[in-house]
Amino acid sequence: MSATGSVTAESLGIDLASVDEVLGTARSVRRKLDFDRPIPQDVLYDCINLATQAPIGLGGENWRFLVIDDPAQKLAIATIYRAVLEDLQQQRGLTLKPTQHALADRLHEMPAMVLVCVGGKPEPELAGQVAFYGSILPAAWSLMLALRARGIGCTWTSLLSSQQEAVAKVLQIPEGVTQTVMLPIGYCKGAKLRKAARLPAQQVTFWNRWGGSSE
Ligand SMILES: Cc1cc2nc3c(=O)[nH]c(=O)nc-3n(C[C@H](O)[C@H](O)[C@H](O)COP(=O)(O)O)c2cc1C
Repeated sequence: MSATGSVTAESLGIDLASVDEVLGTARSVRRKLDFDRPIPQDVLYDCINLATQAPIGLGGENWRFLVIDDPAQKLAIATIYRAVLEDLQQQRGLTLKPTQHALADRLHEMPAMVLVCVGGKPEPELAGQVAFYGSILPAAWSLMLALRARGIGCTWTSLLSSQQEAVAKVLQIPEGVTQTVMLPIGYCKGAKLRKAARLPAQQVTFWNRWGGSSE
């Protein structure tokens, strides 16, 4: 409690510096990973237990986290991922960063991948989609942060979502389940995670009306 009686991070027992460090350095880690160090199951369960503290919509707890650590399954998923990437480059002339290539090249060697799934299908209208994805993506992001706090690097990837059928076939995902992001994960090895260059809050924040300033 502060002198005025209001709560503070300290009075709540929150180590603000550590929380800020995790939030401020949740960078993608694609290369500087220990490909030979498995992720213990209890660590993954701890992270998923934190992820499921995220907001839930009216649909309830429809999330499912599909962990892929079997070599043959990883190879099958990596093969689909690489095909999508190649297609994007050829069809749309997309130029990839070396780190994106690096991830694709070694995806099958990742200690694990987590495919974040949700029961149901998005509705066609915008409000339904906002509710649908808003009920699952915060959990995926919490998972990424919980992993980051434990020294486990990952990348937010959505490339596979264009191949729902092919992925469902490999992983035996039933009809009526939507796949969202896939997080390839591994313990960081020599990765120095810094803040990304982003616009300052003042430039992306409006007050009381679109474009309004705080003055
Ligand atoms: C919706 C969305 C989908 C993404 N999908 C992929 C992907 O499939 N593969 C990939 O390598 N990066 C993907 N990224 C980019 C990375 O997750 C990351 O945000 C980007 O490389 C910037 O790096 P930084 O977060 O370290 O600043 C995606 C990002 C977003 C927001």
